[in-house]
Amino acid sequence: MSQPHSHNKKNEPPGGVLGQGQDEALLKQSFEFLSSLHKLLRLSLLAVPIEEVLSQALEELLAIPWLSLLHKGGVFLVDDKDCLVLKAQGGLHPQPLSSCATVPFGHCLCGKAAQSGELIHTAALGPDHEVTYEGMRPHGHYVVPIRLEQRTLGVIVLYLAEGHPSDPREAEFLRAVADILAGIIARKKVEESLRRSDAILRQVQKMDAIDKLAAGAAHDFNNLITLISGHAAILFEGLPEGEARESAHAIQMASKSVASLTGKLLAFSREAPLAPKDIDLNASVASTVDLLGLTLGKDIRFILDLAPTGAKAWFDPVQFEQIVINIAVNARDAMPDGGELSFKTGRVRLDTDAVKHMGVAPGEYAVLDISDTGTGMSEEVQSRIFKPFFTTKPPGQGTGLGLAMVAGIVKGSGGAVSVHSQPGNGTRFRLYLPTALA
Ligand SMILES: Nc1ncnc2c1ncn2[C@@H]1O[C@H](COP(=O)(O)OP(=O)(O)OP(=O)(O)O)[C@@H](O)[C@H]1O
Ligand SMILES: [Mg+2]
Repeated sequence: MSQPHSHNKKNEPPGGVLGQGQDEALLKQSFEFLSSLHKLLRLSLLAVPIEEVLSQALEELLAIPWLSLLHKGGVFLVDDKDCLVLKAQGGLHPQPLSSCATVPFGHCLCGKAAQSGELIHTAALGPDHEVTYEGMRPHGHYVVPIRLEQRTLGVIVLYLAEGHPSDPREAEFLRAVADILAGIIARKKVEESLRRSDAILRQVQKMDAIDKLAAGAAHDFNNLITLISGHAAILFEGLPEGEARESAHAIQMASKSVASLTGKLLAFSREAPLAPKDIDLNASVASTVDLLGLTLGKDIRFILDLAPTGAKAWFDPVQFEQIVINIAVNARDAMPDGGELSFKTGRVRLDTDAVKHMGVAPGEYAVLDISDTGTGMSEEVQSRIFKPFFTTKPPGQGTGLGLAMVAGIVKGSGGAVSVHSQPGNGTRFRLYLPTALA
């Protein structure tokens, strides 16, 4: 198997063994890499105007020490006349600010990157740097087009110290940032146009846009996370006990949490393929509960009430585990002082009348009830819990994708999910799962 791309020779001393100083530099870089992307993904979830998102994203980029930027840069968006319009900037002098407020496609470095769709790196000023002004200091640039489906939506321009060489790892990182921004911009654009359309159409399109954003961001993240956790594992294995090894471990852990977020995004956008098979519901519940016992803490008491005659379901076993874990983690969050989490399995036959509002076909279903003795939910909250990005948790604690994922997977598998809850009276989720094909 080939080495991960960013494990480049530049960081290896002769013989291929990493020295202590380089270890730490690489660790630090990987960590910053990861946390910047993490922050960007979070940004994509904020309900703020696009200018604000671009400003924050730029601020984030300019703060990355290893990019050796001159703490100057800007983000352009394309207007409807193939012109770049400066929407966010940091550290720019008044002169470039006015000359670069709008840049036609093909003009100067930014216009060229917008036209060709290719990332441009320059180590120094040159003939392509068409905008000049008095007192301009020597510098280089990374100019990164923001593209979606072969279309340029904007450009990120960053100032580099003169002589800064082109680095494939930096370029790869910047392209990933541009891809994430492309998703955000596309979504914002759709949202803007949605505001003008009628309510039903609005909802459908929004879901579609978020789907695309989720899939796009998740794919980028998957690639990057594989790379980051691969490196962290290499470092972890090779380092002696100590702080550096702990940092490598911390990166591995952080990668895992990003990977799980990515998993949710992929599942929600239905990009994750479902692989259903004949599962024994009782056994699947029991083994998932074993797993949960390790993670949910001692204050939660598990109660199993399994159908004596068993229940078979036709379901992807990995996704089944994900669903139960998501519901159980929510239950734990709703029982901060501990409580009971009950699992009850059974079977039910749904007739034409019963399935009227459920979106499933009539027939035999396996049923799993997961109930907690937690805070419960108001009707208003209940009506929104399956919507992507709906969360009542403070920033940093919930993405609001857990139940959207649950609903996506269950519906995608031909099942249904319902909720019963009352404030102060706990919550019960009921999963109707398709039965095994006889
Ligand atoms: N068992 C429960 N009891 C009370 N409220 C719940 C329960 N399960 C879900 N909720 C409510 O539904 C909201 C959405 O849940 P969901 O799992 O989709 O997102 P989240 O838990 O907030 O974030 P994430 O799962 O992405 O980390 C929660 O923020 C919470 O308000
Ligand atoms: Mg959750």
